[in-house]
Amino acid sequence: MAARGLKKDLTSYGDAEFSLFLRKAFIKAAGYSDDALDRPIVGIANTHSDFNPCHGNVPKIIEAVKRGVMLAGALPMVFPTISLHEAFSHPTSMLLRNLMAMDSEEMIRAQPMDSVVLVGGCDKTLPAQMMGAISAGKPAVIIPVGPMIVGHHKGEVLGACTDCRRLWGSFRAGKIDAAEIEAVSGRLAPSAGTCMVMGTASTMALITEALGLAIPGSAAVPSVHAERLRLAESAGHLAAAMAVSGGPKPREIVTAGAIRNAMVVLQSIGGSTNGIIHLSAIAARAGHPIDLDEFDKLGRQVPVLVDLKPSGRFYMEHFHEAGGLPRLMVELADLLDLDAPTLGGGKLGDSLTKPADRFPQEVIRPRNAPLKREGAMAVLRGNLCPRGAVIKQSAASERLLTHQGRAVVFESVEDLAARIDDPDLDVAAEDVLVLRNTGPVGAPGMPEAGYLPIPRKLATAGVTDMVRISDARMSGTAFGTIVLHIAPESAVGGPLALVRTGDMIRLDVPGRRLELLVDEAELARRRDNAVPLPALPQRGYARLFGRSVLQADEGCDFDFLQAGG
Ligand code: FES
Repeated sequence: MAARGLKKDLTSYGDAEFSLFLRKAFIKAAGYSDDALDRPIVGIANTHSDFNPCHGNVPKIIEAVKRGVMLAGALPMVFPTISLHEAFSHPTSMLLRNLMAMDSEEMIRAQPMDSVVLVGGCDKTLPAQMMGAISAGKPAVIIPVGPMIVGHHKGEVLGACTDCRRLWGSFRAGKIDAAEIEAVSGRLAPSAGTCMVMGTASTMALITEALGLAIPGSAAVPSVHAERLRLAESAGHLAAAMAVSGGPKPREIVTAGAIRNAMVVLQSIGGSTNGIIHLSAIAARAGHPIDLDEFDKLGRQVPVLVDLKPSGRFYMEHFHEAGGLPRLMVELADLLDLDAPTLGGGKLGDSLTKPADRFPQEVIRPRNAPLKREGAMAVLRGNLCPRGAVIKQSAASERLLTHQGRAVVFESVEDLAARIDDPDLDVAAEDVLVLRNTGPVGAPGMPEAGYLPIPRKLATAGVTDMVRISDARMSGTAFGTIVLHIAPESAVGGPLALVRTGDMIRLDVPGRRLELLVDEAELARRRDNAVPLPALPQRGYARLFGRSVLQADEGCDFDFLQAGG
């Protein structure tokens, strides 16, 4: 019989009995009894951090998970991992996602736990935890921290961070003053929990649930609701049962069918563009790499049904009140693999909301009255993006989805910051703003710089959207006609590096094309005269990142971490 609990994964001294003796001697310093130490062990990954206000409710969640574990007769052991908040990670949290994935994987593997509960929520944390848990190979349950409740200002409902961007745009355009934007900053994020629009955190919580790695219904329950703590207790209970049975392991849950289910959900919720990057990384870890063309094809079939900002009107607490993912899946049932396995041993089909429990609501639309006829995202191809680019068409301006305009090029995030508000910048509303050197290698870490601000002189003249293209990412809470994730990126020699101000660019979202209208001979000439590629960082994690990070179409994981290495 395989070793269990404290006897598992012993430190290597060449004498297993001595290793166990020593381990027990040390753990007894914490006051545990022999009875406790004889139980199966459930690890609980603690991502509480003063630098991560989104995870402010983690201590209460952990308390509830521990209660569930102990009620089921196992021993909970809490351990820390890296915690990442979007606004507290320089230069971008994406640079650190893989570090958190490695931390989570190695700590789950190294320490003597029979199963693990991972508590996460802010954008990069759930993807990192899923990637790590899949690779670590021990039974795992994920409990998201839950979305914030909404804020209010002058009778208006506010939410982080779609309204952060909208109101900041109003401030830039001179429509609200400094005192008001300061007042608003205290009301956009009124509680612990994750951004309550359909941003990256909400998207990834729903993907976690759609993949089967979280308890059905647990993605959308607000962070401050008592129900979240009951779900945490259930997660502890479930993890204790999995510690005894030894399964299922994440790879048995994240099947090809489960990944397809997650893609359907991603398209139908109006999800964040970051979601497809993270899902690509997760799927590759599980040994089922995503085909972006299949994702695009699903987008033609799957309408946006969830009426949440930034694509629609409501917030996550309303999505929860409307029935959450189990209710949405009812509408999508014919597109889903309902036989996909769940953590509790059943099938996905068992978790759908039963007819008797359905009620009239406005947030989750029926298939015959969708918010958008097509899915949230489209994958573009063309001479500017041979390995693909992504646009969130559900949050774009309809009139700009087919557009041709003159390129106005910015070389980097710094160049953008220096010139975008220059009154002498030669730019018009119909131009295409181009930003490069912002991909995984270039920036580095692929920051959320793809939401280029509208040049101030155009914003004050009333322009609210323009076509913007880059090899960067964009916050899931942002909106606009914005092409992202151009692959390969400019810093590794992708064609985005060849664009010059004044070139014409054609965007054709219905035709799924993004083209630089410059003839091949001229492009070849530019390629021959291109400036040398930037040098990679010389030391530390930045060096590992620069050498090993994959492009956006492969999820920006490290090449040596994918399944099969
Ligand atoms: Fe943490 Fe938005 S900043 S979820």
